[in-house]
Amino acid sequence: MKSILKTLGIGLVAVSGLAISNVTVAADGGALYTQKLCNTCHGADAKTPIQPIYPKLAGQNAEYLIAQIKDIKDKKRANGLTGTMVPFTMSLTEDDIKAISEWIAAQ
Ligand code: HEC
Repeated sequence: MKSILKTLGIGLVAVSGLAISNVTVAADGGALYTQKLCNTCHGADAKTPIQPIYPKLAGQNAEYLIAQIKDIKDKKRANGLTGTMVPFTMSLTEDDIKAISEWIAAQ
């Protein structure tokens, strides 16, 4: 019985630890970049796009990236190629866009 309580206690500590880290730690931009499939066009490192005509993103400053991603999502930016990316921006929250942009800027 004691050991069960102890296990439960450890479990609770682990769960509450996770809950706390979800609140305090910002979203992992690098993980999101892959989860949201950005890598499939812009390359795993954000600087080896699959088509020469697709932009290299790495090293661009975060504010610029945030503005561009929002414009693409809101269809305010629309040149010949923008449409290919629009569907991939639809599920991005403001926080996702910020986290991904900061990760790209750091590459
Ligand atoms: C289907 C391919 C594709 C996917 C997937 C994709 N993009 Fe793009 N992305 C493009 C293309 C093509 C452009 C250039 C659009 C244009 O010319 O307006 C672009 C442009 C951009 C730009 C603007 C770059 C600049 O220099 O202005 C950013 C930032 C960007 N993408 C980030 C992302 C992020 C973040 C994701 C994942 C959520 C993503 N892209 C997913 C194809 C894609």
